[in-house]
Amino acid sequence: MSGGTESGNGSRTSPGPQRGSGSRTGGAGAVTVRVPAKVNVQLAVGAARPDGFHDLANVFLAVSLYDEVTATPAAELTVTCEGPDADKVPLDRTNLAARAAELLAARHGISPDVHLHIVKDIPVAGGMAGGSADGAGALLACDALWGLNTPREDLLEICAELGSDVPFSLVGGAALGTGRGERLTGLPVGGAFHWVFAVADGGLSTPAVYGEFDRLTEGVEVPEPTASPALLQALSAGDTTALAGVLANDLQAAALSLRPSLTATLTTGTEAGALAALVSGSGPTTAFLVKDAETAETVARALVASGTCRTARTATSPVPGATTLTT
Ligand code: C5P
Repeated sequence: MSGGTESGNGSRTSPGPQRGSGSRTGGAGAVTVRVPAKVNVQLAVGAARPDGFHDLANVFLAVSLYDEVTATPAAELTVTCEGPDADKVPLDRTNLAARAAELLAARHGISPDVHLHIVKDIPVAGGMAGGSADGAGALLACDALWGLNTPREDLLEICAELGSDVPFSLVGGAALGTGRGERLTGLPVGGAFHWVFAVADGGLSTPAVYGEFDRLTEGVEVPEPTASPALLQALSAGDTTALAGVLANDLQAAALSLRPSLTATLTTGTEAGALAALVSGSGPTTAFLVKDAETAETVARALVASGTCRTARTATSPVPGATTLTT
């Protein structure tokens, strides 16, 4: 079941002229960038700020599920998408890939004339930063296609403007995100961690989950979010058992409140041999930390057989961030 149990292959195009298929190998002048999903091994959430965002201590790990974004020259900005959940991906200017192209072009005073093709393998609206991955991927792909050589810090600034998780999609590996999650400090990781991800039917809206967090914590003193020293130590030691003991997601109660059926998925994974289970980010994907690749296969099979999720994927972490495959 390596790489998971997804099947089927949808394909969608946006209105407007299309330019080629945006294949992985690309044509003349095509650039393809591969970007990983993320899991939050700690997501500590503070009280709502005046701007509506929440301060976080957000420990990200990049995991080996990937989207690919291919940029090719075009007469105007268009987005297409293929993959099992392509029908759930917006192809208009709300797509973070399109917005990334627009922001980058605006910064350089040029027109964002590009076709962006997304090969989507990261669960959509699943709490694994799939939309953020596409934003970071489009940014790198357009930068290379247009020969801009934008400094890394400027790219990170655009990423932060696109969304709280987008800078991490660019950087990958492991990092602590503070502020609303966009201010990153790289973290050392002493070994590989094995994961299973249970993909739920349908997505959960991130603002809705944060809104539910606010509702559940109303009248409660919410402490300042801080990174757990024990968790940072477990990561740097590459100690799976220790990490399993300290995984924490402050959004989990809110996600379970909006989607109570996820409790059965979490229980199924732990009963099948996972060392720990938690909701991934704002959900509804659930993440299971397991001791090795073999156990990952066992847990993934049990999750699929239980009918408590749509599909299950296996993955390892950490992996590098957005990476250019072709130029
Ligand atoms: O930054 P991003 O666009 O991903 O955020 C989506 C939504 O998630 C925000 O509009 C906000 O409702 C919520 N959010 C938050 N605090 C954060 C990150 C996101 O409240 N640190």
